[in-house]
Amino acid sequence: MKSFQVLFLLLLTAAASEGQSFHIGRCPQPSVQEDFNVTKYMGTWYEIERLPAMFQKGKCAQATYSLLPDGTVSVHNEEILSNGKINSIEGVATVKNASQPAILGVSFFKGVPDAPYWVLSTDHQSYALVYSCSDYLRLFHVDFAWILARTRELSQDIVSQLHDKLTAAGVNVNRLIVTNQTSCEGLDQ
Ligand SMILES: *[C@@H]1O[C@H](CO)[C@@H](O)[C@H](O)[C@H]1NC(C)=O
Ligand SMILES: *[C@@H]1O[C@H](CO)[C@@H](O)[C@H](O)[C@H]1NC(C)=O
Ligand SMILES: *[C@@H]1O[C@H](CO)[C@@H](O)[C@H](O)[C@H]1NC(C)=O
Repeated sequence: MKSFQVLFLLLLTAAASEGQSFHIGRCPQPSVQEDFNVTKYMGTWYEIERLPAMFQKGKCAQATYSLLPDGTVSVHNEEILSNGKINSIEGVATVKNASQPAILGVSFFKGVPDAPYWVLSTDHQSYALVYSCSDYLRLFHVDFAWILARTRELSQDIVSQLHDKLTAAGVNVNRLIVTNQTSCEGLDQ
């Protein structure tokens, strides 16, 4: 077998076994939030819903963003694992092109290419919809999505509006998982 076929099968197997969102064809190119202001976006966001992701297994997931002096963003993600332990990871996010500030790249490991971080919709102060999609060999793509809020719950009206935006981007919202945001003691409030 050619190596790309092996890679394809490996990714397919990984995607299927981990419940990742794997699709034939190339990434959609949804529109992003206009007038996005990265400064106003800083601070803590709580995860309300997400597409399945193998790197996230816990509950109470939250992300804290802080602007660094060089204009990049430090990312601090936390969640509580089923054994009660806190799992956290640090990364750096960067706006690649100042004319498209809602399109960021985020990196958690040095030397590993950035993952896309597209803010499709946010009012900066209550809700945010983030989408990440990567193309592989122009044959298929794997995507992630997160509905975030400034509090551990978000009104169903806004959740529905964000579902509509995801649907318009071609994302199957039936695959979204609701994040358990109860009994989150031990994490930053
Ligand atoms: C972004 O928000 C900050 C903080 O509110 C504000 O000082 C700044 O002027 C805003 N930037 C733009 C381009 O609107
Ligand atoms: C930044 O985005 C603008 C508008 O989309 C585009 O015209 C320009 O080529 C981009 N710059 C870079 C360095 O990619
Ligand atoms: C959320 O987590 C709490 C505490 O761990 C648990 O009691 C509750 O059943 C969970 N809720 C759901 C919907 O899984």
